[in-house]
Formats: sequence, structure tokens, C-alpha cells
Amino acid sequence: MTKEALRFQSTEDGHLTDEMKVAYERDGYIILENFVDPAICDSVRDHADKLVEEFDPSGVSTIFSTNERSHAKDDYFKSSGDKVRFFFEAEAFDENGELKQEKSKSINKMGHAMHDLDPVFKEFAYTDKLKKLAGSLDWKQPQLLQSMYIFKQPKIGGEVNMHQDSTFLYTDPESVVGFWFALEDATLENGCLWGIPNRHKEPLKDKFEYDADGNLILNTVNPCEWKMEDAVPLEVKKGTVILLHGHLPHYSAPNRSTKSRHAFTLHAIDATCDYPDHNWLKRGKNLPLVNWLDA
Ligand code: FE2
Repeated sequence: MTKEALRFQSTEDGHLTDEMKVAYERDGYIILENFVDPAICDSVRDHADKLVEEFDPSGVSTIFSTNERSHAKDDYFKSSGDKVRFFFEAEAFDENGELKQEKSKSINKMGHAMHDLDPVFKEFAYTDKLKKLAGSLDWKQPQLLQSMYIFKQPKIGGEVNMHQDSTFLYTDPESVVGFWFALEDATLENGCLWGIPNRHKEPLKDKFEYDADGNLILNTVNPCEWKMEDAVPLEVKKGTVILLHGHLPHYSAPNRSTKSRHAFTLHAIDATCDYPDHNWLKRGKNLPLVNWLDA
């Protein structure tokens, strides 16, 4: 039997109540409904659509038109930590480098610094309500390291395999927390998140890191098994935010429905923790991280 995920109504000013904190500690995630005004969700979606419309894919079509990993594709990703870049769905291009379907239906995600570079996403990421929420968690100096806009396109929106977010953003001691905002209803049909409650108390399984040759590899540091049948669907309404502990195993299924499933995510780390050089995401000196709560 599939378990029903526990959910809460967000507080008016965004702070976490003691009951919410207990649930987050116990389960490794927490669902806060009605956190973002639906009208704000709509305006952020419109803005993302406009950015895609303005984006000229000709400059990167050769990078993405091969299915194999290529140096150019890797470099485009590796240097995106302090930029706003567009990433295509697998198989978006044909063998001639032409998009198989319209551009707006071919983008998988945007990343990874919209929250500091784009005025609309900046306004979304640094509201008093969100700072209040972040300030309720047990860390000293949270900094917003990464933002992603995930389109989860109708019919072709790809699966995201089971993973822990700390795999991709590692600090010592570990501190990453994900904030997953539903900009549209996320359902079983259009590829909602799934998480395995309580497994965040286990060690980090993999580290996505640079090896000695400068290649990004997935390094398994603690082999363990996650059973899909232990996962719980996190179906949520537009305007909901889901907090994800950095060790919570989670995934999302492909979207085979006719509806998109737009989501915006933020990942924060504690500045008092070490951020080792082997992490993939780099920030240039021109875009230093700022204290989230004071920004
Ligand atoms: Fe994730």
C-alpha cells in the first residue's frame, strides 16, 4: 500500500513550527502547502517561457546534437555554476543538429545561478518569507549555491534517477538543503517527486566529483540499496514548497502526460562548512555567494 505523505499549511510569515521541524527531522523532507501565491507561480512560469523564447539554440545545437558525452557538452555544464544556461532533453536534436520539435518543448532545465543573475528569480529567491523559512533550519550562514528551473515537458520530460542532493553539492560537514517549488500541480501523471522517508539518516552513497584528470565522475563511497517500493509520492499543488534534506533519496518519474510540470529549485549550503574543490559547481570571483538571510 502506498503511504500518504504528511503535509502542512505554510505559516503566514514562513517560519517552521516545532511540529514541522520534528516532521522534517523524522522524515527527511517536509511539504509546505500554499507557500507561494499562485499568481507569483504563474508570473515566474511566464518569465521562464520568455527566457526560452529569447534563447538562440544555434550556438549550442552542435553540443547537444550528439548523444554521447562530449568535451563541449561537459564544459558547457561544468562552467554553468555562475551563469544562466539552457539544457536540452535527451534526443532533442536530430542528426543534422536541428530540433525535432519546437524549442519551448525541448528544454529540460535552466541553471544554475538564476537566483543571483536574473531579477525575477532573484526576487523569488530572496523574499522575507523564504528567508524566515531558511532561518528556521539548523545552520549558521546559509548561502544559495544553486538554482534550477525544471520544465518536465509533456510527453518527453525525462526521469530523474534516485539520488541524494549532497551527492552533487558536498560540504564538510554536510549541510545542503533543497527547496523544491511546484509552479504547477505535480501529480503521479506528470512526474511528481518521490522520496524514501527516514533514509536521510544513512550515509551519503555517491559523490559526483572531479577526478585527478579533471573528469567528473560518480564515486560510490557507501554502497547501499534503495528500493523503489519504499518511496512515497510527493504529489503537491501549485505554490507548495518541499524541503529536502541533502541525504534524502528521491527521484521523479518521466512525464508521459500532456501536461507540463514546471518546478523551480534552490539549493543552499552553510558557509561555515568547507566546500571542497572537487565539487562540480564553481562560482567565479565576479559572483561571490552571499548570506541568504542578510541579502
Ligand atoms: Fe534532487
